[in-house]
This record gives sequence, C-alpha cells and structure tokens, in this order.
Amino acid sequence: MEKRAELYAGKAKSVFLTDDPDYLVLQFRNDTSAFDGEKVEQLDRKGMVNNKFNAFIMQTLQAAGIPTHFERLLGDDEALVKRMAMIPVECVVRNIAAGSIVRRLGVQDGMDLNPPTFEFFLKNDALHDPMVNDYHIRTFGWASDEDVAQMKALTFRVNEVLKKLFDDAGMLLVDYKLEFGRFHGQVILGDEFSPDGCRLWDKQTRNKLDKDRFRQGLGGVVEAYEEVASRLGIKLD
Ligand code: TMP
Ligand code: ASP
Repeated sequence: MEKRAELYAGKAKSVFLTDDPDYLVLQFRNDTSAFDGEKVEQLDRKGMVNNKFNAFIMQTLQAAGIPTHFERLLGDDEALVKRMAMIPVECVVRNIAAGSIVRRLGVQDGMDLNPPTFEFFLKNDALHDPMVNDYHIRTFGWASDEDVAQMKALTFRVNEVLKKLFDDAGMLLVDYKLEFGRFHGQVILGDEFSPDGCRLWDKQTRNKLDKDRFRQGLGGVVEAYEEVASRLGIKLD
C-alpha cells in the first residue's frame, strides 16, 4: 500500500489517497479543536493516543459484528481505512445529560436518560452543526430512508457494546458522536471513536476523562485520554 497525495485536511485528522482507489490513509494529528474550530491547540501525543484508541474500539466493534471502515494501524499516528462516500450527518446517542442537551432543553446535567436519546446534527461548522431530523435528511437528499434506519440501528448497537466495555473499566459512557458512509452500497461506520468525540466520566467520582477537559480548560487532557486507554488495556508505546 503506497501513500499518495493529501486528499483533505479536517480539524484533527488528515486524509491521504493511496495507490488503491478503495483505501485511504487516515492521519491523526495533535490538533485539538472545540466550538466548531474556534478554539484550537496542539496537544503533544494526542494524535498517537487517538489513533491507537480508535484502532482498539473499531476492532472491538467489528468483532461484535458492526461494519467499520477500519483496516489496520500503519504507524503511531496513521491507519488504513476504506474509502467511503461520507453521509454529512453526525449521529449522537446520550445515556446521561451533558453538553448541548442541557443548554437546549434545560434538563439537569448528569441525569440518566432512559431510554437513551438519539439526535442527528448536520456536519457544518459554519452553521455550528445544527440539529436536523429524518425529514431534513430525506428532503435534502443527504441519505435514503434505508441509510437512516441503518445509521440508527448501528449507532444503538455501538451503545450496547461500548457502554459495557467502559462500565467494566470503571467508566460511564455519557454520550458519543458517530459518522457513517457508504462503501460499495453498504452503510458502515467511519471517522473515529476516541475521547475527542464522546464523553466519559469516572464511575465513582464522575471526573471528566474526555474532550470536555479541553473545552472547559480543565487541563490534563491527553493524560486523561491515556488513563482511559490504560484502563481498557490499550498499549500505547
Ligand atoms: P453536544 O453535547 O455538544 O451536542 O455533543 C454530544 C457528543 O457528541 C459529545 O460527546 C461531543 C460529540 N460531538 C462531536 O464530537 N462533534 C460534533 O460536531 C458534535 C455536534 C458532537
Ligand atoms: N463541535 C465539536 C466540539 O465542540 C467538534 C469541533 O468543533 O471541533 O468538540
């Protein structure tokens, strides 16, 4: 597999073509952004930690029967993935209220959400990722009804697998964001799963172990990600 020209640079990852049109190289950078790109900093080791964290989670999900774009690690900060046509919406499941749902609905931060909620957001920083629903997705042609059904089903299956994984390691999976794409007609999980795109709290203390440490200027961001990785038994060095 030969790495070719850069195709796209996102806020935290860069994407490179390869000599095979079905595969891309995903590079995890140290850039850390919040508030739709308004706050950006370089955090030492974050690219490497998120790359290895993501590899572990994607392999765990694949073993549980959830199709993902992940193929294999290529190095400290790079992974080989399938080249998908991305669906431009973000799927968010919440098990506990935190973040935007608290601001939008005035519900109590930290309350259990039973059953968990599901929300779609349009992936558009300029518009601050507005919430959208199934009707917007259909009317504007972002995805078919079958794709929407598949994204919801897969996102909830991810919840079953990961809630237990984190619970067994002494953590609460508060919420998370997933992105999907199509690969040869099939909807599969893309992007990444790392503490950049989810909320994780220590089960006993409810200390934050995710990107809220960066958003809220609490410090110890990468140290917290490394703590999560260590509790899951992920080897970083
Ligand atoms: P929110 O509380 O800001 O709506 O975010 C819910 C979860 O989804 C949180 O873990 C952060 C993640 N998320 C992203 O990583 N990127 C996004 O663009 C959005 C909207 C949410
Ligand atoms: N909207 C997400 C966040 O606040 C992602 C980003 O803006 O970089 O973390």
